[in-house]
Amino acid sequence: MAFLNSNYLKLKGGYLFPEISRRVREFCDSCPDVCLIRCGIGDVTESLPLAACAAFHRAVDELGSGKAFRGYGPEQGYRFLRHAIVENDYRSRGIRLDEDEIFISDGSKCDCANILDIFGDQNRIAIADPVYPVYVDTNVMAGHTGAVDALGMRYEGLVYLPCTEANGFIPDIPTKPVDLIYLCCPNNPTGAAATYQQLAIWVEYAVRHRAIIFFDAAYEAFITDSTLPHSIYEIPGAKKCAVEFRSFSKNGGFTGVRCAFTVLPKELEADTGTGECKALHPLWNRRFSTKFNGVGYAVQRAAEALYSSAGKVQVHELVSHYMGNARILREALHSSQLAVFGGVNAPYIWVRGPHGVSSWQAFDHILKEANIVVTPGSGFGKHGEGYFRVSAFGSRLNALEAAQRFKSLKW
Ligand code: MLT
Repeated sequence: MAFLNSNYLKLKGGYLFPEISRRVREFCDSCPDVCLIRCGIGDVTESLPLAACAAFHRAVDELGSGKAFRGYGPEQGYRFLRHAIVENDYRSRGIRLDEDEIFISDGSKCDCANILDIFGDQNRIAIADPVYPVYVDTNVMAGHTGAVDALGMRYEGLVYLPCTEANGFIPDIPTKPVDLIYLCCPNNPTGAAATYQQLAIWVEYAVRHRAIIFFDAAYEAFITDSTLPHSIYEIPGAKKCAVEFRSFSKNGGFTGVRCAFTVLPKELEADTGTGECKALHPLWNRRFSTKFNGVGYAVQRAAEALYSSAGKVQVHELVSHYMGNARILREALHSSQLAVFGGVNAPYIWVRGPHGVSSWQAFDHILKEANIVVTPGSGFGKHGEGYFRVSAFGSRLNALEAAQRFKSLKW
């Protein structure tokens, strides 16, 4: 008799986005003629930057040319891409990293999940609420939690950090000790972005408690406020206590292409369980060599091209396009008397629905009356109840049309 991983049986319902798709499909089946606008999942819609396309083509031609064929690449990523990242994302901000502290992968979702492989099961885990559901679900799958509560909102064993209007959606330091902390900044779903001072408090906490921060910076390119940090390593001491996740999905339009990276500094250490500290870098490196064969050569060349001078201009245009949508949608929602947050340093707008309307009620109402798909806030956690998230990823025409529909929507 084989045994299954019973932790999977603790997971509540389906993953949020497939559940939304199911409801949308049902609605479209019953009203096939509606012209739906999708502001739900944060998926890019605009073409790849031309510099990335050209590099992709060149790389494919190289592979087929008979002269520059490549088989397995380095599991941790090609030097050319790791070098471009170190120089452009970090050295340009005064952060010194070695190229081998960068690990190229096929997506931040996988990285956020896989990182748990190199940490012990005894860690106390702190997770913001509301939060990107992958952090919670992957901890459930790994057996780091007990059962979910009766409302299907909270798992026993996790330390939830409320992100509310009162704290500007930036989590406060926990009142009980924790070992692993997930911070997503700029935040999905609330759109909030932490200041230097706010991040410095977390770094100070983590260093003092020998905790480790998982810093998900997938949306850093969308920061428009020049006073805000883009990397946790801008905070002194962070290399001793933080892993950073970055992605080309949103800034380079790579959600379908797949390329991301993790920064794991060599200074980062954790307890072996016997009171002795050891570096985590060799473990992550070992994991990569054993469980991964690297991202495709052509994909890495396309990612490298995002750092060329033409690529940088095109990435900037792409990000500006989505942030233009964010402004249009934010203003429309604001003018309809709803409390609106985010959308300034992130491509997500976080909206408090009218009093007494639950997140799923708001979702259904907006779907039926305005034919717009949003994401119910409660899908991100208990403190998301009563809110909904509007994604700015889409065409300008759709953003303008959605803005009109939001303005005329009656509650
Ligand atoms: C979202 O809508 O939250 C994003 O698509 C999540 C992701 O990038 O996986």
